[in-house]
Amino acid sequence: MSRVHITDVAPRDGLQNQRLPVDTATKLALIGRLVAAGVASVEVTSFVSPKAVPQMADAGDLLQQVQARWPALRCSVLVPNLKGLERAHAAGAREVAVVLSATEEMNRRNINMGLEQAAGVCEDTLRAAQQLGLRTRAYVAVAFECPFEGLVPLTTVATLAQRMAQAGAGEIVIADTIGAAAPGMVTERLGVLSREIAVEKLAVHFHDTRGLGTANAWAALEVGIRRFDASVGGIGGCPFAPGAAGNLATEDLVQLAERSGFQTGISLSGLLEAIDLAQTALQQTLGGRCIGWLRRQQARAATPA
Ligand code: HMG
Ligand code: MG
Repeated sequence: MSRVHITDVAPRDGLQNQRLPVDTATKLALIGRLVAAGVASVEVTSFVSPKAVPQMADAGDLLQQVQARWPALRCSVLVPNLKGLERAHAAGAREVAVVLSATEEMNRRNINMGLEQAAGVCEDTLRAAQQLGLRTRAYVAVAFECPFEGLVPLTTVATLAQRMAQAGAGEIVIADTIGAAAPGMVTERLGVLSREIAVEKLAVHFHDTRGLGTANAWAALEVGIRRFDASVGGIGGCPFAPGAAGNLATEDLVQLAERSGFQTGISLSGLLEAIDLAQTALQQTLGGRCIGWLRRQQARAATPA
């Protein structure tokens, strides 16, 4: 059976933009529930400016504790520049992800650099990370549509993805930051990209703003993509991209993949435990499109026959 690899980005993408502060112990508990559910890869945090993203101020402490507690867990962390890499390395990071947006304005809003400068910083950071022996990922954000510049040309996305591949990125993550993609676009864009970059190196990161997250994931699966980011409970969104709603929910992706004959290694009932914890911490009702069904299943299982 074919395997679908899921990186749960809830502790980073999901928590970075939350109104209520989430302490390190709660983040650890959330990651613990993800691990218990069978999640094998987590984006733990980001080493960004704590002024820009206060929720990630505990990055070093959190990463150290997570790696000590779950040594077999694949842990990646987002780094926007060399300073972020330095901090991540000092905390013992084994895998880092850089973030390059495919438009001028999105880079400025997100990391205060123009597109060319951002591409250069990402290349330098990727090369430095490899010299340190770290695994690497490179996000190409707003790879479909940008909240400031509209539809993003596929040629730009392809050029930037190639640059990240040439700089040695182990994985190139094509990201729909504001959830504007549709399956036809995914088929077209990932089809072109997978002819230029080995499909095993490509991953996708969908936000579910318009309810097309699972449809887009299916289109990516049909192109041959097997690496996906998703966020438990569907939490997530970039604070610097207006209109960025939650990520494709991990439970929806697991449901889609498992019911279509792929293996994820992740248990839906285990994910519910993580959603319950996140709901309490964030004081919000959470869950992807399948949450109603999942809750009914849970209630049925708890009722004696
Ligand atoms: P800047 O102000 O331009 O940086 O911020 P600077 O180089 O001028 O430095 C200013 C201060 O920040 C200095 O400190 C630096 O040392 C410090 P001061 O001298 O004032 O005390 N600094 C840092 N501190 C901690 N960690 C660092 C770091 N770098 C500089 N790494 C910067 C530039 C990139 C730091 C800032 O704009 C930033 O942190 N931005 C946050 C970006 C972010 O986290 N965005 C959300 C994640 S991306 C996303 O969500 C999209 C994604 O999910 C994919 C998708 O959906 O598309 C990945
Ligand atoms: Mg995102």
